[in-house]
Amino acid sequence: MAIGGSNSQNSINKALAYFAAQFFEKAIITKFDISSLNIPIYSIDNETILGMPLEVTNFASLIDETDLIILSLAENNGSFNVGLKNLLDWTSRIKERKLFNEKPMILMSTSPGPRGGATVLDSAKNIFPYLGADIRGTFSLPNFYQNFDFNKGITNDELLEELKTVISKIKTSI
Ligand SMILES: Cc1cc2nc3c(=O)[nH]c(=O)nc-3n(C[C@H](O)[C@H](O)[C@H](O)COP(=O)(O)O)c2cc1C
Repeated sequence: MAIGGSNSQNSINKALAYFAAQFFEKAIITKFDISSLNIPIYSIDNETILGMPLEVTNFASLIDETDLIILSLAENNGSFNVGLKNLLDWTSRIKERKLFNEKPMILMSTSPGPRGGATVLDSAKNIFPYLGADIRGTFSLPNFYQNFDFNKGITNDELLEELKTVISKIKTSI
């Protein structure tokens, strides 16, 4: 399951997550696009009044069914993109399951800047294990527009090797 952690239709993190997923040649890839969701902002009030949105329970079911989550995080003001945060907050309210259901995860980030979303990636590395993520590898792509081509993928050889190393380690363990 490949997820761009952003509600932008043209998300660079969506592009990176989908690119990474291609290296799992034998897998059936589920692409989950947060920008296509139409769910209210999470609040206790909305939960009480509106109940759990079907799109959220569908997301949770996809997590439950997957063998691996590939998630690339957008960084907005050093933190999570609001669309991802909203989805995660809703999903965390489904009873009797952990948000990521102990699934193996490759956690990534990218941004147009030189840090490549390292702040949000670090934050998620600390938080997600408490939410049931089994983080098996991480990767950050700096300077997205210098290092990624939307048709070819990662164009920087060193960074591509780094990602491939992360992926091959995971392939042996899932
Ligand atoms: C509100 C806002 C805040 C941002 N904050 C950061 C930031 O803290 N660090 C960063 O590297 N880029 C930041 N950016 C630039 C994003 O990295 C850039 O928009 C990127 O395309 C987001 O990923 P996405 O395309 O997957 O949504 C910000 C962009 C916006 C619109």
